[in-house]
Amino acid sequence: MRVFIAGAKGQLGHALQETLGHHEVIAYDQDELDITQLEATRKVLEQVRPQVVLNAAAYTKVDQAESEPEMAFRINALGARNLALTTASQKIPLLQISTDYVFDGKALRPYHEFDRPHPLSVYGMSKLAGEDTVRALNPRHFIVRTAWLYHTVGNNFPKTICALADQPEIRVVNDQYGSPTYAPHLAQALSRLMETDAFGTYHIAGSGGTSWFEFTRTLFTLCGFATKIKAVSKAEFPRPAPRPAHAVLTTLQDPHMVLPPWEQGLQEFVRQRFKFDG
Ligand SMILES: NC(=O)c1ccc[n+]([C@@H]2O[C@H](COP(=O)([O-])OP(=O)(O)OC[C@H]3O[C@@H](n4cnc5c(N)ncnc54)[C@H](OP(=O)(O)O)[C@@H]3O)[C@@H](O)[C@H]2O)c1
Repeated sequence: MRVFIAGAKGQLGHALQETLGHHEVIAYDQDELDITQLEATRKVLEQVRPQVVLNAAAYTKVDQAESEPEMAFRINALGARNLALTTASQKIPLLQISTDYVFDGKALRPYHEFDRPHPLSVYGMSKLAGEDTVRALNPRHFIVRTAWLYHTVGNNFPKTICALADQPEIRVVNDQYGSPTYAPHLAQALSRLMETDAFGTYHIAGSGGTSWFEFTRTLFTLCGFATKIKAVSKAEFPRPAPRPAHAVLTTLQDPHMVLPPWEQGLQEFVRQRFKFDG
């Protein structure tokens, strides 16, 4: 299958290229294709003629989006629109990645695909606008919401927190819950999904939910770090963008799309990371 990936240099872009080696993969980042440019997008897809397009490109700076909303909407909504229009005109599927941040986190139970979104942040609103435009313009769409994504490449929470492990004590938020997702696990599920025609909306994230505090405790245990971890409220870490307090994702869709438990993703992350560190 000929697969086109936008956002090739991101965490998910890397994971997809590692996973889809048995396909013919053409993967561009914004230096080769800026998805905010409609004509450039059309031209590239007309040249490449893929059988499916995976949109892993995004504006992901959640706090910064509050002060540059136009940039966030341009990439997350207009970019998605451009890919939706061009894939629709070629009658090929578009797999669009979205986020748990489309929810407000007030439900106190895991969110499934048919729960009503209500984003709290500019980032969440821009990603929801991207979902809406893809649904409206290309009937052959997969919209996949994921969460708390991390990989051995790129910037993410586990890498940041590991870099602080030489301090005697760190403080970590214990009242924000989500579904940590190891990017290679997500990529494997997307690889299965894109070969189907079961279009629609999917929640695909590490199974089970946890807080940042528990996630850090598990990570440090796996790494053998003795750093003291103090649980604190998110009120102690005021940030520009509000986050959903309880945004654990669950799915009503095909059980083949369910990912391994988040702890297993973390184990594989630690194994790969120490392998890379030599
Ligand atoms: N990270 C998370 O915790 C998380 C959680 C839930 C959902 N998601 C979603 O999962 C998807 C993948 O996230 P990720 O963590 O892999 O993101 P990432 O590491 O930030 O990668 C995004 C990639 O898109 C590129 N990009 C930005 N603007 C572009 C444009 N106009 N045209 C083409 N490429 C562009 C970025 O390039 P530059 O680096 O040069 O800007 C970057 O290489 C996104 O849809 C994101 O919203 C992420």
